Amino acid sequence: MHEIAKRLNDNIQKVNPSVYDMLSEIGRDIYMPEGIVTQGNEAKQKATKFNATIGIATANKRPMYLKSIYSNFAGFTPEEVFPYANTPGVADLRTLWKEKIYKEGPTLNGAQLSNPIVTSALTHGISLLSEMFCDRGDYVVLPDMFWENYTLTFAVKLKANLVTYKTFDEDNKLFNVKGLLEETTKAVASKGKAIVILNFPNNPSGYTPSVKEMQEISDGLAEIANGGGKILVIIDDAYFGLFFTDHCAKESMFSYLAKRSPNLLAVKLDGITKEGFAWGLRVGFMTFAQTCDNDEQMLLSTLEAKVTGLIRATVSNSPHPSQSAVLHALKSPDFEKEREACNQIIKERALMIDNMFKAGKYDDEFIPYPFNSGYFMCVKLKNCNSEELRTLLLNNYQIGVISTSTTDIRVAFSSVDIEHIEELYDTIYKACKEIK
Ligand SMILES: Cc1ncc(COP(=O)(O)O)c(C=O)c1O
Repeated sequence: MHEIAKRLNDNIQKVNPSVYDMLSEIGRDIYMPEGIVTQGNEAKQKATKFNATIGIATANKRPMYLKSIYSNFAGFTPEEVFPYANTPGVADLRTLWKEKIYKEGPTLNGAQLSNPIVTSALTHGISLLSEMFCDRGDYVVLPDMFWENYTLTFAVKLKANLVTYKTFDEDNKLFNVKGLLEETTKAVASKGKAIVILNFPNNPSGYTPSVKEMQEISDGLAEIANGGGKILVIIDDAYFGLFFTDHCAKESMFSYLAKRSPNLLAVKLDGITKEGFAWGLRVGFMTFAQTCDNDEQMLLSTLEAKVTGLIRATVSNSPHPSQSAVLHALKSPDFEKEREACNQIIKERALMIDNMFKAGKYDDEFIPYPFNSGYFMCVKLKNCNSEELRTLLLNNYQIGVISTSTTDIRVAFSSVDIEHIEELYDTIYKACKEIK
């Protein structure tokens, strides 16, 4: 093992040995070399005369560039576009995102957080965490309605055991907190550790729990952790902010899990993908929360250093122009207003769908699962197979939906204008009748 990795591991063990136990083999071995990148960063600060460290080309101390590329970036300086961004991201962007997390998470109550690390959007963040914390055979606990990409990351790539619980309770109304806690308890009993993924608003169901449910989840997981189980909780906040009803909590689950137990490490993944309606920019963030009452800056910065090493080993750094664009947007007085306006358009569609179902229009063919947030909702079919329905809709009506299980289909109302919503559901209903 490299000396730097040993030093980082010592730091973690000194502050919180439980977090050390959660690391995978890669997580223990990884480190950020103090080589070219670190020496280059030092030179950036001090080498005011000649900086012959950096692996880019400059002329007159400015990055060289092609006009045919730069002409596409009106409003940006060449420095904001062409040089490599720092491996963990543009410093000012990280600072502003951290302020945003605190502002949107009053329940954090000043808990210490790592500096958010910039990732090439959330998928990259999930992949980094899987490598840092998951070894072959580790348990990943998920609701049975989950984003399918977790399967590739954890099960296919890393050979983890994905264990699921029913997403909703027996009345099909609320999140199945009991199921989550039972599966986590079993995972911890078998391996001593568990990786729990919580994604609200949820893809595919479109459900966000209430504050009460979030508190129950937090209390339950803290109890398992305080009993000795080591739990990494990954909070996938891809759809954060798209909350449509009074029922759903308006804060991230992250707020309720910070500082609950030395054995519980909460990490938030979020980004501009859906929050900023900028799917292709590929800007995400990974932020670790304080695990207990001791001063933990050392632990948080050591985790940051390890993740930075992993980024260096994979994509080296995330695209600079995208980070600059997000930085400009976060500084803009219009960012929040514009985001809210887009959210409102999606909310109106969701409320319309809710009203149609409340009127019982489609009850004899399909009923909705609880939904109150996000991009999607799912229906449970009563009389036909979802794949048969999906292909019929596609071939006869040129309508695309996703079949998520033999009985369920997912509808992305995020991408259907409100004037077509009723026709969409009426056609799904008609197609169900045809199959019967
Ligand atoms: C639950 C969930 N997490 C993460 C992602 C991926 O986000 P990104 O495009 O930022 O990688 C998605 C995208 O569909 C998602 O539904």
